[in-house]
This record gives sequence, C-alpha cells and structure tokens, in this order.
Amino acid sequence: MRDFYVFLGPPGAGKGTQAKIVAARMGIPQISSGDIFRENLTNQTEMGILANKYIKVGELVPDDITISMVRGRISKADCARGAILDGFPRTPAQAEAFDGILKENGCRINKVPFIKVPENVLIERLSGRLTCRAEGHVFHKVNNPPREAGICDYDGSALYQREDDKPETVARRIRVYEQQTRPLIEYYMERGLLVEIDGDRSIDLVSAELTKILLDDEGNDV
Ligand code: AP5
Ligand code: MG
Repeated sequence: MRDFYVFLGPPGAGKGTQAKIVAARMGIPQISSGDIFRENLTNQTEMGILANKYIKVGELVPDDITISMVRGRISKADCARGAILDGFPRTPAQAEAFDGILKENGCRINKVPFIKVPENVLIERLSGRLTCRAEGHVFHKVNNPPREAGICDYDGSALYQREDDKPETVARRIRVYEQQTRPLIEYYMERGLLVEIDGDRSIDLVSAELTKILLDDEGNDV
C-alpha cells in the first residue's frame, strides 16, 4: 500500500519548507501544486498561462485543472512509495476527488499534518519570502536567509519575490484559504487523519516534530 501525506495549512504556514525537509528524510517526493503551476508558467505551457490568471490575483485555480494535474503527477514512477502533497487538496471537491484517485490505485492517505500559524506571522513570513526559480526552494530575508544574497543554496539559481506575495494578494489568499480550504480540517478530522502541529516555532523544531510523527508511524528510526 502506498501512503500519501497531505500537508495542510494557510499560505505562509511553512508547508513547502517542511515538506521538502521531511520528504528528503523519508526518501519520497514532495509534490507542490503551486510549484508545478509556477514551473508551467516559466515554460509558458497552456496550463501555466491559464493557472497564472488565478494565481496572480490570489484565487484558486479551477478544481478540474488542478485535479487532473495532480492525477498525472502521482502516476509517475517516483511516487511508487508514496509522496508528500503540499498545497493539494485545498477544496472539499479536490479532497473527494483525491480520495477516489487513491482508492482506484490501491493507495491511501496516512496522515494530514495541519500546520497552524497565527495570521500576523503568516503576513510577516510571506512579505520576506524569497523563492528559487529552478525548484521552488524557499528562504526568508530575516528568518532563513540564503548563504549568498539572491542565490539559492541548493541549486545556485536566482531568488525572486513571488508576484502573489504582494500585501493585497496575500490578504486575498488568506481569505480564500479561510473560505475554501479551512473546511478540510474537519474533513480530515472526521476521518481520523488530522494531526495539528504548532507551526509558530523554529523551522528545525517543526521539522523535528513532523519527522517524528511521520517516521515513527512507519516504524523507522527517527
Ligand atoms: P502555493 O504555492 O501552494 O502557495 P500557498 O498555499 O499560498 O502557500 P505558500 O507557498 O505561500 O506557503 P507555504 O506554507 O508553502 O510556506 P513556505 O514554506 O514557503 O499556491 C500558490 C497559488 O497556486 C494559489 O494561491 C493558487 O492560486 C494556486 N494553487 C496551488 N495549489 C492549488 C490547488 N490545490 N487548488 C487550486 N489552486 C491552487 O514559508 C513561507 C515563508 O516563511 C518562507 O520565507 C520561509 O522561509 C518562512 N518560514 C517557513 N517556516 C518558518 C518558521 N518555522 N519560522 C520562520 N520562518 C519560516
Ligand atoms: Mg508553498
């Protein structure tokens, strides 16, 4: 049985930061729907150009586009041992579709860590975020600066500020999260999958807790 993990939380909670660390420790891929859309925009694909119309104003990309994109991604060979999903599902329709896709493939969700962070901290994190062009590695001007200004520590690509990290778009994204994604907390709680994590701590403390919860569960050494 392939196990999938869904990292849930508002914009800026640290889903991408943590999913990258924990996925590397577990030896499974991190799948970020936002990163895939941004990659498609960089490559000027039809999907990337369409998705960007929603992303740049802080709205969600329509469910049908997002679901078929993730369906395709998790069918790739590197997901043979499962994966960590970061930013998907984020509507009840996506969650139901994802359950169906996993069932068809004999897979399941093992856990849904919900990374909880107060709104004022989210705004501060997003306003200082720097993202790498190549693979979406994230840094923060103050909390997590790169070794060399403007350059990604991992792949040497240029760092930039995401267009949707402007204050008015951040406010919109947080409202969209409250309206459309927050209901998933209850969805996964009812299914006994939700694990709440205090995300308002250092990156290392949060990743240590997540690693313990996810790896312990597989019976591996932490
Ligand atoms: P997406 O890219 O998923 O953005 P998001 O959900 O808004 O989340 P973020 O990436 O902004 O935050 P994060 O939780 O990953 O935080 P990070 O680790 O970077 O989606 C973008 C857009 O794509 C959406 O608005 C939508 O339009 C579209 N989209 C994507 N998925 C979709 C879907 N399923 N359906 C429909 N549309 C979809 O950390 C943030 C900052 O904080 C960084 O600077 C980091 O260094 C810093 N930081 C992290 N942790 C800590 C810590 N513990 N202490 C201090 N600083 C920290
Ligand atoms: Mg992210």
